[in-house]
Amino acid sequence: MTTSTILITGGAGFIGSHVVRLFVNKYPQYRIVNLDALTYAGNLENLKDIEAAPNYQFEKGDITDEPAMQELFARYAFDGVIHLAAESHVDRSISDPLQFVKTNVLGTANLLNVARKAWANAFSGKRFYHVSTDEVYGSLGEEGFFTEETAYDPRSPYSASKAASDHFVMAYYHTYHFPVVMSNCSNNYGSHHFPEKLIPLMINNILNKKPLPVYGKGENVRDWLWVEDHAKAIDLIFHKGKEGEKYNVGGFNEWKNIDLVHLLCSIMDKKLNRKEGESAELITYVTDRPGHDLRYAIDATKLNKELGWKPSLQFEEGLEKTVDWYLNNSEWVEHVTSGNYQQYYQEQYEQRS
Ligand code: NAD
Ligand code: TYD
Repeated sequence: MTTSTILITGGAGFIGSHVVRLFVNKYPQYRIVNLDALTYAGNLENLKDIEAAPNYQFEKGDITDEPAMQELFARYAFDGVIHLAAESHVDRSISDPLQFVKTNVLGTANLLNVARKAWANAFSGKRFYHVSTDEVYGSLGEEGFFTEETAYDPRSPYSASKAASDHFVMAYYHTYHFPVVMSNCSNNYGSHHFPEKLIPLMINNILNKKPLPVYGKGENVRDWLWVEDHAKAIDLIFHKGKEGEKYNVGGFNEWKNIDLVHLLCSIMDKKLNRKEGESAELITYVTDRPGHDLRYAIDATKLNKELGWKPSLQFEEGLEKTVDWYLNNSEWVEHVTSGNYQQYYQEQYEQRS
């Protein structure tokens, strides 16, 4: 496949910014267009280091806006799309499910349709890559893993909206032979992660000696992957994945929330010269998330066997790097936690106390 002009949606968000950075730096011959609506989760500060690169262009726009997407496709004649734009936080999906239907379902369907029409059913050399989540598979018990064959069983408005978008992607493949590829990844962590999600929220609260809100008993298990390893998997799948197929991406790295929070506390006690155990005293058990999925665990054997991908970082090392990034980028944290964040935090967490 020769791809020269690539649209990356949601490139100002957490994972998207790492994907944009990787592509801009690795493929100077490509033109990378980052389309993002700059919602609360989108932040151009995430891309300061590459914003002046000659092969990079930012476009502000909304994936649900059909005329705007048509105009964009006409102007750039994209060869490929890597679609990450989404509403991504489960707790927000519980408070406002319809926003997730709009962005994730309607937005994805709109993008598929605009691309299909712009490519006028001549799909040779074209590729539409949809980035999805392991949460579409539902919740595991103590044993077992999600494989690419696991039946979808989404249980939160977020995962239901992602599952619906995945179904549209596969429907376009089967109905129109639209050239799709897709991946379902486990929980990412790393730099530029918005502090509504577990790891950056805990880092920020530990730093500020605020309560560390652990949902329920803290027994829920997540499989954590270094975001740069996810970006590398996306690069590989975009270029070498088989059309019409999906790939699971995961860290082979399961942690109970409470153990992860203890590990973070202990890393940060050292970094902040606190006495061992001091930060862990901030741990506060709060009301559980409704419908809280117990365990996610990905079997990424297909991606490893077919395309040779595996995670590069040990979790403890990645977590320490992540903590260092947050400690060295307090300005970034200040910017994203001022304004709306305060209101969000108050609303989410006062109902849990
Ligand atoms: P994020 O919330 O950090 O970023 C989402 C980005 O999409 C933001 O920049 C936002 O401004 C943009 N966006 C939102 N609505 C838009 C719209 N209507 N039009 C254009 N742009 C819009 O999310 P993330 O964590 O980086 O996740 C990116 C993708 O990866 C999502 O599709 C998510 O479902 C998937 N995913 C995330 C994880 C994870 O652990 N974070 C794991 C697996 C898959
Ligand atoms: P999150 O980062 O929101 O990702 P997801 O729900 O998509 O897996 O949450 C990760 C886990 O941490 C999840 O089991 C919920 C839990 N959690 C807390 O215990 N406290 C918190 O404040 C947050 C945000 C999450």
